[in-house]
Amino acid sequence: MSTTEERPIGFGRLKRKEDARFIRGQGRYVDDVQLPGMLHGAVLRSPYAHARIVSIDVSAAQQHPKVHAVLTGRDLDGLGLAWMPTLSMDTQAVLATDKVRFQGQEVAFVIADDRYAARDALELIDVDYEPLPVVVNARRALDADAPVIRDDLEGKADNRIFDWEAGDRAATDAVFARADVVVSEEMLYPRVHPAPMETCGAVADYDAVEGSLTLWSTTQAPHAHRTLFALVARLPEQKIRVIAPDIGGGFGNKVGIYPGYVCAVVGSIVTGRPVKWMEDRSENLMATSFARDYVMRGSIAATRDGRILAVRVDVIADHGAFNATAQPTKYPAGFFHVFTGSYELEAAHCAVTGVYTNKAPGGVAYACSFRVTEAVYLVERMVDLLARELDADPAQLRLANLIRPDRFPYEAKTGWVYDSGDYETALRKALEMAGYEQLRAEQAERRERGELMGIGLGFFTEAVGAGPRKHMDILGLGMADAAELRVHPTGKAQLGISVQTQGQGHETTFAQIVAQELGIPPEDVEVVHGDTDRTPFGLGTYGSRSTPVSGAAAAVVARKVRDKARVVASAMLEVSADDLEWERGRWFVRGDPDQGATIQEIAMAAHGTVELPKGVEAGLDSETVYDPPNLTFPFGAYLCVVDVDPGTGKVTVRRFVAVDDCGTRINPIIIEGQVHGGLADGVGMALMELIAFDEDGNCLGGSLMDYLIPTALEVPDWETGFTVTPSPHHPIGAKGIGESATVGSPPAIVNAVVDALRPYGVRHVDMPCTPSRVWEAMQGRGAPP
Ligand code: CDP
Repeated sequence: MSTTEERPIGFGRLKRKEDARFIRGQGRYVDDVQLPGMLHGAVLRSPYAHARIVSIDVSAAQQHPKVHAVLTGRDLDGLGLAWMPTLSMDTQAVLATDKVRFQGQEVAFVIADDRYAARDALELIDVDYEPLPVVVNARRALDADAPVIRDDLEGKADNRIFDWEAGDRAATDAVFARADVVVSEEMLYPRVHPAPMETCGAVADYDAVEGSLTLWSTTQAPHAHRTLFALVARLPEQKIRVIAPDIGGGFGNKVGIYPGYVCAVVGSIVTGRPVKWMEDRSENLMATSFARDYVMRGSIAATRDGRILAVRVDVIADHGAFNATAQPTKYPAGFFHVFTGSYELEAAHCAVTGVYTNKAPGGVAYACSFRVTEAVYLVERMVDLLARELDADPAQLRLANLIRPDRFPYEAKTGWVYDSGDYETALRKALEMAGYEQLRAEQAERRERGELMGIGLGFFTEAVGAGPRKHMDILGLGMADAAELRVHPTGKAQLGISVQTQGQGHETTFAQIVAQELGIPPEDVEVVHGDTDRTPFGLGTYGSRSTPVSGAAAAVVARKVRDKARVVASAMLEVSADDLEWERGRWFVRGDPDQGATIQEIAMAAHGTVELPKGVEAGLDSETVYDPPNLTFPFGAYLCVVDVDPGTGKVTVRRFVAVDDCGTRINPIIIEGQVHGGLADGVGMALMELIAFDEDGNCLGGSLMDYLIPTALEVPDWETGFTVTPSPHHPIGAKGIGESATVGSPPAIVNAVVDALRPYGVRHVDMPCTPSRVWEAMQGRGAPP
């Protein structure tokens, strides 16, 4: 492990290039796209969570003077577009034909001169609904008498989507049977929403003469979307150009294809004009991809002296009305089977049942690498419950059970091979930064005074960088990423990548990767992304995969350029390539450092007249497709201090210490930003955020008045630290960081809340730990001693 990171060129603290436009308010988002003759679309949504559609009358809307077209499911049916495939190989209604299955489902699409007229005309559409019984409780959805939601699927007589398991059930049962101590708990990771600042939207421009489609859209995966549009709309892929301009936050919300995008495309084909569709905030919260919604029953087995032996968990995964979750095909529960966490276990088993309910579809990586968030929460809550049962210190219990550095690469009991780790160092660092012993002493004193102070720990291992092609695909598209590097004669470069930044700073950090490898200053490297016509194919940005996969591609393609530059340099210097040595930015003759050529000189020569060896082509441009051999496994140790108001149950996060290890650190400023944002997300999920439903399936979290997201007022000054344990298989040793803090912080916060409530005998509080929930938990356990 080393902690050095500052380097003059390449990796190090570099301010974001993209901020030049963002801080001037000159970012260009989808809603900024204005095209001549552009029309505007609006979606009519279902007020019911479950209802049969008896009839739809659009005649009044069609007569609105500013309306150009009204689309219904029946119209789309004629084009074979009423249903579309989801990322989980299910089907989803684009516009409902038979019935509606969640509140907010898309029923009709109006195209008008402007956004206001389109919205006005929605009110003129008359839909006759026949309400049906609703099921929003995932457990209840599995009952034999539950209403069947997906009666469109042939032979479907229940709401079960899949049963999936990982680990060894028999071995786990055997370990549990002989364990001294077994602790179990039921917990809900509630439904939350990524809620990016920019909602989802698209501008479709179909050119009937050329037969081509240009689609500006809020997408985290432009290339994958292009392929899906080609398959779904049966348009030739080479005629489709998907442009993702600046994206105002994605967090997983912009991975899937939404009906509004498809309707904008059909609208443009039908009207012969460009069509824009932008959803509003309520539409975003009610109808686009949610995250989590996992009902988990976990158990942990240990010896009396505190050796953790096994973990098992049964999950009911609520996928809403259509199974549209985004994760590699092979893993219907994402990477949940990383729930074995950071501990050396003898056995582990998980069983996950996916169910349909009358809620919005989705289930995305909301700043979470495919359900790792749920997994980490489960195991970290279980370890705390075990500590309580054993009357052990939660920090000591973790230190005694963390996987030791000499065990890496470590094969976990559910099949993951963790690439590298030094867990104990990270945890000790967090404890030291926090002053753990003093905090415990302070807590004891405060308890004497009747004050409720809680200290919560969370340790996490993530699995990020999906993923090896042989194991991972989405809808059959393998998860490799290409990169193209062009080096112009003057030595300035252009890097084309397939991943799609949504605010993570790729234009800066990817330039730094090239700078590190080639010595071309980062400001001389232009990073091109977000345009399928200008960039090579790849699967996009989610699940913190950009650095592990595309970042690796960027390093590999830069190395290819470097190798080519060596051949050119040997021709320039008239020495054998074997006699050349590299220092950043320059090839020189071994033993004679003055004899050399900079990468810029070599670039000019490569485009010039220097005689190149037979078979060597002019120029330095290169391309690559990177297929990661494994995922990367970032980790971290988090510690949270909370104060709970005994009078109101209000939780205040007083301190939060986060020690992260993402391997080689490309840009510490950006890493800090990623961690700060993720920690704020964690405070939101642990204490505030909830998409709830009433029994009729009405969404109770459909506005930012009800769906509370954290502001600067709710978060403390973050105290961050780091260790560096490079990934052995990644070309530059980097692991992902984008989602670590969102994954790691909720259990630390909930553990702190439960710790604070210990005098009340509270064992568990489900997220979000709102004042009323905390208050109820306190009442359930009687008054303080
Ligand atoms: O896929 P996504 O960009 O959301 O996540 P990521 O790969 O973890 O990267 C988030 C940002 O942090 C990017 O700008 C990365 O280049 C940067 N990063 C870094 O500077 N060093 C790392 N070891 C990992 C990420």
